[in-house]
Amino acid sequence: QTKIDQDRAERTEKLQGMGCKRKRVEDVRFTQGKGSYVDDLKLPGMLFGDFVRSPHAHARIKSIDTSRAKALPGVVAVLTAADLKPLGLHYMPTLAGDVQAVLAEEKVLFQNQEVAFVIAEDRYIASDATELVDVEYEALPCIVDPFKSMDADAPILREDIQDKMEGAHGPRKHPNHIFEWTIGDKEATDAVFANADVTIKEMLVDHRTHPSPLETCQSVASFDKVKGELTLWGTFQAPHVIRTVVSLISGLPEHKIHVIAPDIGGGFGNKVGAYAGYVCSVVGSIVLGVPVKWVEDRMENLSTTSFARDYHMTTELAATKDGKIQAMRVHVLADHGAFDACADPSKWPAGFMNICTGSYDIPTAHLAVDGVYTNKASGGVAYRCSFRVTEAVFAIERAVELLADKLGMDAAELRIKNFIKPEQFPYKSALGWEYDSGDYHTAMKKAMDTIGYKELREEQAQKREAFKRGETREIMGIGISFFTEIVGAGPAKNCDILGIAMFDSAEIRIHPTGSVIARMGTKSQGQGHETTYAQIIATEIGIPADDIMIEEGNTDTAPYGLGTYGSRSTPVAGAATAVAARKIKAKAQMIAAHMLEVHEGDLEWDVDRFRVKGLPEKFKTMKEIAWAAYNAPPPNMEPGLEAVNYYEPPNMTYPFGAYFCVMDIDVDTGVAKTRRFYALDDCGTRINPMIIEGQVHGGLTEAFACAMGQEIRYDEHGNVMGASFMDFFLPTAVETPNWETDFTVTPSPHHPIGAKGVGESPHVGGVPCFSNAVNDAYAFLGAGHIQMPHDAWRLWTVGQKLGLHT
Ligand code: CDP
Repeated sequence: QTKIDQDRAERTEKLQGMGCKRKRVEDVRFTQGKGSYVDDLKLPGMLFGDFVRSPHAHARIKSIDTSRAKALPGVVAVLTAADLKPLGLHYMPTLAGDVQAVLAEEKVLFQNQEVAFVIAEDRYIASDATELVDVEYEALPCIVDPFKSMDADAPILREDIQDKMEGAHGPRKHPNHIFEWTIGDKEATDAVFANADVTIKEMLVDHRTHPSPLETCQSVASFDKVKGELTLWGTFQAPHVIRTVVSLISGLPEHKIHVIAPDIGGGFGNKVGAYAGYVCSVVGSIVLGVPVKWVEDRMENLSTTSFARDYHMTTELAATKDGKIQAMRVHVLADHGAFDACADPSKWPAGFMNICTGSYDIPTAHLAVDGVYTNKASGGVAYRCSFRVTEAVFAIERAVELLADKLGMDAAELRIKNFIKPEQFPYKSALGWEYDSGDYHTAMKKAMDTIGYKELREEQAQKREAFKRGETREIMGIGISFFTEIVGAGPAKNCDILGIAMFDSAEIRIHPTGSVIARMGTKSQGQGHETTYAQIIATEIGIPADDIMIEEGNTDTAPYGLGTYGSRSTPVAGAATAVAARKIKAKAQMIAAHMLEVHEGDLEWDVDRFRVKGLPEKFKTMKEIAWAAYNAPPPNMEPGLEAVNYYEPPNMTYPFGAYFCVMDIDVDTGVAKTRRFYALDDCGTRINPMIIEGQVHGGLTEAFACAMGQEIRYDEHGNVMGASFMDFFLPTAVETPNWETDFTVTPSPHHPIGAKGVGESPHVGGVPCFSNAVNDAYAFLGAGHIQMPHDAWRLWTVGQKLGLHT
């Protein structure tokens, strides 16, 4: 028996399948500088495009004179809205049902908005020529504060839709209003609040920031006039969607458009949408008949393509005296900038903000969201989160702390008291979601025991006394966050993009010699898909992961998919991979039965082979079966061994986690030091623990950035402040704290391998954890809620306001 077990263990290990810490295969090229990115592409005759951008946040364009730019040697063309208008391309549709100017026509609506596109022989000439385009502007009053957007005397921003009082998501209350979206039972919620023992209410701001991937957005368009075919390389998180959008807006048939997303240097939501640069490179190539490249610089990326957050959330909780939460009421004022270009599924103008009741059994809730236009860049993308779940988790996790404070209760205890209990799953939340699985109590207990929660609170109490006695200038904060994510968009009934249901796909092909190519509808931007999808297939069909090649990003070869964002790859394409593999396995079983001359039902699966039940020495390995599939399939069976699956998930998956942060803050300098950060994640079945750990490290680092300093700010004239890495906080190894990671495993009951997503959880849970640590540190001094970001200067001002400085 031991010999058989040992043999099985050895064969299992050889597969490098699910659960093993397989090294990332893509890193072989990345660590040697051999990745192939859009900007590596050099095509014969290729030209370069660069934008003329508006210095104003709001201004009327009186004239554009391109003659000086056109006269510069090396300049080939200068496009303006006047050139695009006859083609109907001066505006493009956004994913949110709005339209967005490709090149500004009569007005500019945010600083650095695209006004003209210069195409030249090289990048430097194009850049020089942008300064020779003479644009005459008449400055207009601008709106920076979203709370003033709907004032009676507010300047009207979007004159193009001024009279269209019915938007994509219902009626608009004001020309600067985009939508009102409500969910939940308002009357019942108001009634609970009216009679509650204890309530809290706070304006929680999840400030404007930016995903800032290291590689900026870029594209190369190459139109073949003879064949009438367009090839478009770009930094696309969702290549197939881009192909469909390009077809719809250009009129080119979709089969004549080849979209290729090569290696991508980080996306984090920034590379989901369609940008003016893509359209202009395509138009440039169609008009000129040669390839045109467009590459954003850092300032352009930070100031024009897809900001994140900017949610102003008036958040209320109602509870009994002993801490049972009875209701939640939230109003969000959402600043969407100049165009509504949020990247959300069509039916969800505020993304999945209605997951805001979090991990708690809150029976009654109501959420209202108003989206407004301001003179800022558009976007509203899910920066390492699933469509506004970061905002939702921030709201509930800060609110629970404020409630604990008011009740004089321990914040961990209050959470535990209100957790959804294991026996309540599948749990239907007051705002409409059905949580698939969870065991919050076990996760919280493990986290509290590991971090030594009780001892930390004792230490904090002593430190607070010492501070009051004047013996120390340091205060200690303990941040907690217990989050529930919602990832894997999603079921067709809930989720579509431009009417296309958000399924995803995998196509697996076994070659005669037993090696494999699998093509996916998703697109990695660094998450390690080439490593982990192969692990799923390896376990499912018993072929070593090293013999499986994963290919993504070429719309000609990959099956149609909705792409990678919102941690949907594992929940959706991961499921498609398992289902496609199982189709192959079912056919392989028939072939094996034929080869072994037994009935299929007499066979059982054993790691990498089918064997005859009770006769373990009679078997056929998957490799042998693959050969037979091409060489001697059973009579009447078509040869070959391949399968495709388009997976439409029955539900989202709901990963969760318990995070703790211990922070020491010097009140005189405002410098906050993270002493410990512990992150327990439950993403169901774990495919690659090493990759999960890497994902958690990355997500926490971005959470640290957002909470502790990262921000896209505007001055009162709409000038974007700090749109460079001199000012925009991008933590390096020097600032980044040490991360302690841990896990529990609560499989998803509806996912074929029980896996939930993980890529974004650490960001979602991390932001409120840091903010709670800061707020907890100052709470005993009566600071009230302190808004993010918590950089040293802002924390210094808190000390100043509290009169702590001598
Ligand atoms: O959609 P995206 O790839 O950003 O997110 P994800 O589905 O959460 O996956 C991120 C990475 O973590 C992928 O390489 C997954 O295969 C891996 N992962 C895992 O190993 N086990 C899980 N249960 C979930 C994700």
